[in-house]
Amino acid sequence: MKTNFSVVPKLLARNPRLAGRIVRSFAGQKKSVIVDKRFHPETTKVLSLIYFRLTPLCNLRCVMCGQRGVKGTMTGLFAREEAKKIVPLDTYKRLVDEIKHKKPTIYLWGGEPFLYPDLFPLVDYMMEAGLAVSVNTNGTFLAKNAAEIVRKGWHALFVSLDGFEETNDAIRGKGSYQNVVEGFEAIKREKARQGSHLPHMGIVTTVNNLNYKDLYRLAEAANDFGLSWHIFNLGTYTNQDIIAKQQTFMKEALDSEATCIEAFDTGYNEGIDGRDLHQILERIHAMHSDHPVITVPALNPEKIDLYYHDFETLVRRNCSVPWSQANVNYNGDVHFCADYPDYVIGNITEKPFFEIFNGEKARRFRTALRGSPEGLFPGCSRCYQNMLCGEKIKGF
Ligand SMILES: C[S@@+](CC[C@H](N)C(=O)[O-])C[C@H]1O[C@@H](n2cnc3c(N)ncnc32)[C@H](O)[C@@H]1O
Ligand code: SF4
Ligand code: SF4
Repeated sequence: MKTNFSVVPKLLARNPRLAGRIVRSFAGQKKSVIVDKRFHPETTKVLSLIYFRLTPLCNLRCVMCGQRGVKGTMTGLFAREEAKKIVPLDTYKRLVDEIKHKKPTIYLWGGEPFLYPDLFPLVDYMMEAGLAVSVNTNGTFLAKNAAEIVRKGWHALFVSLDGFEETNDAIRGKGSYQNVVEGFEAIKREKARQGSHLPHMGIVTTVNNLNYKDLYRLAEAANDFGLSWHIFNLGTYTNQDIIAKQQTFMKEALDSEATCIEAFDTGYNEGIDGRDLHQILERIHAMHSDHPVITVPALNPEKIDLYYHDFETLVRRNCSVPWSQANVNYNGDVHFCADYPDYVIGNITEKPFFEIFNGEKARRFRTALRGSPEGLFPGCSRCYQNMLCGEKIKGF
């Protein structure tokens, strides 16, 4: 499981257009690293991926979630108050008009994106602008909306599922597994009825100490869901030492708080046996299935234990995110780090997007990141975005 390269032929055979889109997105990412980061270190002309965290609200309470879980920073009354600040549809439409010439891939998430009241008109507008749109959802609302999702030809759904039934429900709440299964079935039925191949559907599984021994059963069950991919995300974890270092660094270098990282010191990494996990993932990768299985990050088997038990050891370096990606938060704040939205570079209700993306705060962030050891801040060591796009460190 040293690389995910083996999935490429399967993806090409099954979904050539989807494979083409992914390749284009990675090419944009690479260009940002090779050209912009090197020759214009403070600014960028690339925008290959833009995340929209549409709402702070969610109907679930998954234990490890940095927003709504046991250590979550976005719960209860606070979340309900924050939800009053959600960006209206017209503001998002204006933003789409500003960015569409760059052809970024769009990733809608939350909270739970189906709780954003204008999700359907927003996706319509983005698709009419020629953008590729992905929706990351807990799956609860898929069955109810299946006919419309298929009729509109949504491109891609990333549905979270963290284990076979009992395991998943212990993490994501009772009944959540069945809801997702019913959602997949409803979409499959509608695709057949409407004669459509869209949306592509895939699972995202976040590995933790509650589910890692049970991943094979989920992978087996997933063979019946009609998927285009199954992603195993090794998870974002940290500890108090790293949090303290990140907070000191952010204060000194960027004059910023760093509170969101605290939500990822969950302890759900504890007790994961890296050798066991490697063997389980190997069996899953070897299983006969129509869809590709992708592990993020794909690690050398010897190093998986370090991933979970020594967060100071880096496995990917040179974060390229600020040179090609942005996150827009539910209140319009723009930031680079999806899970750590403390450092805000501007707000889309106040300024045009590209003035923010190459503005003073964005440039300061890029300069600090480029000047940091290994091109990372102390809190970046297990960041999902860097696991996806960062540079592999030799031996890992
Ligand atoms: C925060 S959720 C938002 C979208 C939607 N509510 C869902 O669950 O798919 C986005 C993704 O982050 C994953 N996630 C939650 N906690 C995580 C953690 N500690 N580390 C890595 N990923 C995590 C979720 O499982 C989900 O796949
Ligand atoms: S469904 Fe998503 S946002 Fe909601 S608690 Fe679970 S992981 Fe967090
Ligand atoms: S690696 Fe660090 S700087 Fe890059 S996106 Fe992740 S948290 Fe942000």
